[in-house]
Amino acid sequence: MSHPRCSDAALFIFTFVQLTAALKCVCHLCVNHTCETEAEGACWNSVMLINGKEETVKSCVSPSELKGQVFCYSSRNVSKRNCCFTDFCNNETLHLNPEQPPEDSGWSQLEVAAVILVPSCLVCVGVMLGVCAIQNLRCTHIKSLKQDPEEPLDDPTLVSPDKCLKELIYDMSTSGSGSGLPLLVQRTIARTIVLQETIGKGRFGEVWRGKWRGEDVAVKIFSSRDERSWFREAEIYQTIMLRHDNILGFIAADNKDNGSWTQLWLVSEYHEHGSLFDYLNRFTVSVEGMIVLALSIASGIAHLHMEIIGTQGKPAIAHRDIKSKNILVKKNGAAVIADLGLAVKHDSNTNTIDIPINHRVGTKRYMAPEILDDSINMSSFESFKRADIYSLSLVFWELARRCSIQGIHEDFQLPYYDQVQSDPSLDDMRRVVCEQKLRPNIPNQWQSCEALRVMGKIMRECWHANPAARLTALRVKKTISQVTVVKDVKE
Ligand SMILES: Nc1ncnc2c1ncn2[C@@H]1O[C@H](COP(=O)(O)OP(=O)(O)OP(=O)(O)O)[C@@H](O)[C@H]1O
Ligand SMILES: [Mg+2]
Repeated sequence: MSHPRCSDAALFIFTFVQLTAALKCVCHLCVNHTCETEAEGACWNSVMLINGKEETVKSCVSPSELKGQVFCYSSRNVSKRNCCFTDFCNNETLHLNPEQPPEDSGWSQLEVAAVILVPSCLVCVGVMLGVCAIQNLRCTHIKSLKQDPEEPLDDPTLVSPDKCLKELIYDMSTSGSGSGLPLLVQRTIARTIVLQETIGKGRFGEVWRGKWRGEDVAVKIFSSRDERSWFREAEIYQTIMLRHDNILGFIAADNKDNGSWTQLWLVSEYHEHGSLFDYLNRFTVSVEGMIVLALSIASGIAHLHMEIIGTQGKPAIAHRDIKSKNILVKKNGAAVIADLGLAVKHDSNTNTIDIPINHRVGTKRYMAPEILDDSINMSSFESFKRADIYSLSLVFWELARRCSIQGIHEDFQLPYYDQVQSDPSLDDMRRVVCEQKLRPNIPNQWQSCEALRVMGKIMRECWHANPAARLTALRVKKTISQVTVVKDVKE
């Protein structure tokens, strides 16, 4: 057992002595072709390719040269170096190996194959994709040539299939221009509506209930001779920032030429209760119901009348045809202002109105005295708002009559029902409103109910002969909202 230990120790000592002692090496450039290293030096052996021929160099390496390992070890196609640590260990002749792949590039045959094959495959795939793309383009082009330019594209990305109207309208009010759905989306919606039944008829056409993706919508169909009214109403509804809880929700406008005539559609939210006129004819309202309706009507008009300043602002708008038939009742008992076809917008920068105005538009029964006698100051936009307020007072009168307190209420009547016949002329109305200065009757019993008393007071202040003395929509709104507060406090 002790022998191996002795031999190990002897080998270690020998190697140590060899490493630390000076060495004798083969040296081409030395006398006797021999050199002796310093302690801890090494013998150096190298071969280099010079002018296509292998040339060997053998010598001694000093300890400092030895530390730079690069100096010792290299195996390239143009040079090979080696250091060794026994006497004349550099005697052997080194050779370069030209067959060996260049170590420097580090590429195996597999890698070389990959370098050739991968780009080739990529080029092939590219060519194939290119061919497909050209084919596709040709198909789309042919398709678009065949497509009726009036038809909406059958593209589900246009109106995503899982969106309901509310979401679409919400999307459009929170993004984009803030003025409405893109025209192609409007057209796509309009052309996928299935008409169900007619629900009304007005001056400018028929109103239908339609279905879009299972939801009810209202479709107002204009005749081609009323194209300007259709265009104007669609334009007003798409006024930036017009959207409001108490303004009828506009969805789409579409004009479709069917060869012999143009169908003009205006699609809006459908309200099953119909107009306030229809509603009050059928039902009476509670005090709370009256307040909700009155407040929402005033809020809708206040929003129309208000100018919002800014890039996403809204111009002041006057409706010019406020009446109970142009106000719709929502399921929740609130109202929305509809029929904006006669509205005018005010440009406050230039103090101008957006269309040349014919001041005698609207419904004669609801016309303000200054319109009836032609004394209206047309240079001021305020005049049009004040005329709306007069009409509003008549609507409030129709509404308040239907307010039932302990079963007591009046029948439904249009304003001036006891003064003029149906479809009164301008002269009839002027005689009553301007000359006789008559106004609808305010019953005595309204004094016994706070809400009705306030409503009566608002009416008087809003149908004042002097337009400047009338309340603003905002003031009306505030006064009514205070009625609710008083009522709440009492309860
Ligand atoms: N969005 C809607 N939802 C439910 N019903 C509607 C809607 N729009 C209109 N209607 C119904 O259709 C009727 C006709 O409306 P339209 O606006 O064409 O005429 P009008 O208001 O009665 O008269 P005018 O032409 O003088 O304005 C309304 O009175 C109402 O009953
Ligand atoms: Mg109408």
